[in-house]
Formats: sequence, C-alpha cells, structure tokens
Amino acid sequence: MATILIHHDAVSAASATAKRLLDLLVSKPDASLGLATGGTMEQVYAQLIERARGMNLSFAGVKSFNLDEYIGLNADHPQSYRTTMSKLLFDHIDIKPENTHLPRGDASDPAEEAKRYEAMIAELGGIDLQLLGIGLNGHIGFNEPSSSLGSRTRIKKLARSTMAANRRFFKPDETVPTHALTMGIATIMQARKIILLATGASKADAVAKALEGPVSTSCPASILQFHPDATVIVDEDAASKLELRDFYESIHPGGEEVYFVK
Ligand code: GLP
Repeated sequence: MATILIHHDAVSAASATAKRLLDLLVSKPDASLGLATGGTMEQVYAQLIERARGMNLSFAGVKSFNLDEYIGLNADHPQSYRTTMSKLLFDHIDIKPENTHLPRGDASDPAEEAKRYEAMIAELGGIDLQLLGIGLNGHIGFNEPSSSLGSRTRIKKLARSTMAANRRFFKPDETVPTHALTMGIATIMQARKIILLATGASKADAVAKALEGPVSTSCPASILQFHPDATVIVDEDAASKLELRDFYESIHPGGEEVYFVK
C-alpha cells in the first residue's frame, strides 16, 4: 500500500508535494523527474519555483520527462503540454531546454514517436520520481480505464469524460484533441518513486477506488497498490470517501510523515 498523506487543504498538499521534489533535488541534483500536467499541478510548480529560488537551487543537471502530449498539436500550440510546461515551470527555472522531454504531438508517425519516447526514457536511465495527478475516472497520464496494466508509451483515445474535463483549457471555438501519446502504466510503474497528488471533492471517488478498490484496469491508478515506493498526497476533500481515512490519519497526522520510534 502506498503511503497516504491527508492534508488539510489543497495548498498544503501541493506544498508537501513540492517539498518532496526539492528534497530529491537537494540529495540528487541530476535527478530525472517525471512530470505531469493538469490543474492540480499548477500550485506544485508555482511552489517549486518560489522555493527553489529561495534556496538558490539549480535545475541545470535535472532531466524531465512528461507523461503525455496531445496528438495533433505542435509544440507551439497554446494548449500543447509542451507550451503548458514551459509557461508553468520550464521558463522559470534554469533547466536546460534539451533536457526537457515530452512526446511530440505533431510527429508524422505517432506510433513510432511512442516507441522512441519509451526507449529514450530507458536509455537516459529511467525516472527517479514520477509525479502523477488522477483523472475523474481514475486515469493516470492518459491511461484511460481498460488500459493494459502492462502497457508502454503508445497512442490512446481519450475518454469522453476526459475530453469534457479538459475542455476548460481550450477556447470555445477550439476542438479538444481526441487522442494522446502517453507513457504506459508499466512505464509509470518503472519510476523508482511515485507521488500522486489529488485535491478537491471531485476526485474523492477516483481516490477511494484507486486506494481501496481492487487493482483493476477499470481504475488505472489502482496499480499503485503494487508500487514499492508510492506516496499519495490528498486534501481532506479528496480523502472524503476513503473508508480507512481515520487509520491513515492516525499514522500520519496532518499529512506529516511520522515514523515509529521506540
Ligand atoms: C489530464 C492529464 C493527467 C491529469 C488529469 C487530471 O487528463 N493527462 O495527467 O492527472 O488530467 O487533471 P486535473 O489536475 O486538471 O484534474
């Protein structure tokens, strides 16, 4: 089972997530970070930038690999995940642009691009810490329910509910892409450490299914139950449907990691 940390609110949950990323970078300045997009991550990147500045922390040795990218959007498209990441994070830190990796949404052969991306992650030494959000239907990356738990980076059709949820990032006259390139579930599971962050009442069902339901393709995030070093950071709203909530809170009061001492 993952370590489950329940924070009072979304700001505190995001701040705890940013702190974990910083701790890793302090101990390993050339770490490989697996990054995620989605509204939930905006606070994390804002905090990361601010705190890294305060600590004078350099990202010059860091490599990053994003989970996914929309197919059909070129890198400069305002809603591409490449543009989103530049705006939210890359433009504000000293990470080397050539060390920031996302699948190319405008590749002429997306299937080939998926293979290239998967191979590149392995060739560059894999991912030290993968950051994840969770979709309303339990997706991680763009691995929608029914995704193989053994999947690798590939093309995925987006669920209608995912397109509807992501509509808010697009202008009214723009169409939301229907397909994406996404790391597979097995790709994600190979990360040495995983942090999943979920906030808000809309995520409560997905969080409960992922943490307390059966491990199943119907909730891709449930695979994290098998990961040896996964931490799930939630706020009270996202934790509201967890049956064992009291127990998790008794182990980690206020979301703090407290270890047993004799
Ligand atoms: C998107 C991304 C996921 C993200 C999810 C939740 O579809 N591909 O990586 O976790 O949505 O996003 P949000 O944080 O906006 O709820």
